[in-house]
Amino acid sequence: MQLSIVVPTYNEAPNIAELVRRVAAAVANLPGDVDAEILFVDDSTDATPAAVREAAATAALPVRLIHREKPEGGLGGAVLEGLAAARSDVCLVMDGDLQHPPEEIPALWRRFSAGDVDVVIASRYAGGGTAHGLADRTRVLVSKASTSVTRAMFPIRLRDVTDPMTGFFLIDRRSVDQALLRPRGFKILLEILARRPMRVAEVPFDFADRHAGESKASVRQGLHFLAQLTALRFGKMSLFAVIGGLGAVANVAIVWALTQLGVDYIIAAIVAAEATIIGNFLLQERFVFDDMRENASGVWLRFAKSFTFNNAEALVRIPIVALMVSSGHISAVVATAITLVLAFFVRFLFHSLVVYAPRKPGVEPSRARRILEDIDEEVMQPGEL
Ligand code: GDD
Ligand code: MN
Repeated sequence: MQLSIVVPTYNEAPNIAELVRRVAAAVANLPGDVDAEILFVDDSTDATPAAVREAAATAALPVRLIHREKPEGGLGGAVLEGLAAARSDVCLVMDGDLQHPPEEIPALWRRFSAGDVDVVIASRYAGGGTAHGLADRTRVLVSKASTSVTRAMFPIRLRDVTDPMTGFFLIDRRSVDQALLRPRGFKILLEILARRPMRVAEVPFDFADRHAGESKASVRQGLHFLAQLTALRFGKMSLFAVIGGLGAVANVAIVWALTQLGVDYIIAAIVAAEATIIGNFLLQERFVFDDMRENASGVWLRFAKSFTFNNAEALVRIPIVALMVSSGHISAVVATAITLVLAFFVRFLFHSLVVYAPRKPGVEPSRARRILEDIDEEVMQPGEL
């Protein structure tokens, strides 16, 4: 059996020797006869390449280095380049700063060896895992919030995944269609999982403190991530947005028409809201969540959830509109438009998380799930709306 350990590095010189030593020790613990290599994919401007060569000279396993003069795609691009250049189809990806403890490699390998999955994910958020190595409370919050939002946006693909943002996973590269991937920024696993259905297992792990050096995470990486998320979810989210937009236009038009006719703007807003709530629900059923309907609760329950949510939202929104109109110098039309845009995001999360949530596992036959995933795959093909 062969295993390639792919390690993306950017200025990790003080971590290399320790990493190679601990990886070699962990690999020596693998059951059976596993022929492993370490492959560094390096974009550094420091002495990392020299540190890799030095470690390679004495290491207990083959250590290879790809130093990229033109680092394309950042961390994600480096990982893909590593997967392509690896000697083995089975690849383990991990960070070069020892936040991913090499001692977990045997657990990942054991789970993968069962032979029933394409990828084993080391998760900070599965039972027993922790994220204590995250730098501070802000990063913990950002990590948790972005994980929840991401899972809400991919309720089918990420159904079995608690930590789609981890950079620690073991994967059979034959299950990855590289042509589909648009690596950008840090979150390559999310890209892989979102692009096509994968058979996934998770193993909990403790996200450790950095051994040495500094994190390369930044606000810029955060923005990359948001762009990636939007691009990945372009299909569903954009349709939802188009329908929401049509609803908003209808809403504003009704408010305008009724106030022109002399109707009080609060009454006008209520009438407009109810008309668009029902219209939006019908359009979303038909065009946005059609692939999730079969596996969700029944149509009346879906309608009840959607209708209740939208009315609750309108109940909150209308007093805000009234407040904006009475306290500021904003017209009812502008105030309605602003609050509708804000409400859009909350509404999308609620619908994909709650209204169209899959019923509990075990209720549906696995055949239905497969059909559903085929449809989901079609919907996720790049290039379509
Ligand atoms: N080749 C290459 N090119 N490697 C890079 C680049 C790059 O542009 N940027 C960062 N890396 C390497 C780092 O050297 C390190 O080995 C690994 O990618 C992770 O980067 P860190 O700077 O340690 O970032 P982090 O600790 O915030 O991110 C890690 O934790 C996240 C979970 O919160 C990574 O594992 C992420 O993948 C993970 O999602
Ligand atoms: Mn790190």
